[in-house]
Amino acid sequence: MEYSEKVMDHFANPRNVGIIEDANAVGEVGNAKCGDIMKMYMKINDDGMIEDIKFKTFGCGAAVATSSMATELVKGKTIEEALKLTNKAVAEALDGLPPVKMHCSVLAEEAIQAALTDYYTRKGLNPADYIKK
Ligand code: FES
Repeated sequence: MEYSEKVMDHFANPRNVGIIEDANAVGEVGNAKCGDIMKMYMKINDDGMIEDIKFKTFGCGAAVATSSMATELVKGKTIEEALKLTNKAVAEALDGLPPVKMHCSVLAEEAIQAALTDYYTRKGLNPADYIKK
């Protein structure tokens, strides 16, 4: 399977690349097999809305494209909506990924969950009460 045009676009022109200095949610995940690493930064406001999100991904092209798409999909959304984002939805938004590259989209889902886990932890709350997996 070839990469879709959307994947190529998000790989060549990734959206929301970078870091947020005053982020209140930061999550980093990695895949031990391929060694790829994804880090997400979020700025979540008092209403629980993700006002800003940026990422740094050291990994394959599909990992970059899925991070980019995932940030686009949760930007401006609430925490609850972001928690519902599945790797499948990210892959679908990119018009699909080759089967061997699906694990790259899993990284994107996990990075968002990791950032939100951090968000609750910083607030002194138990993430497990909010993030059901
Ligand atoms: Fe591992 Fe893409 S090859 S994240």
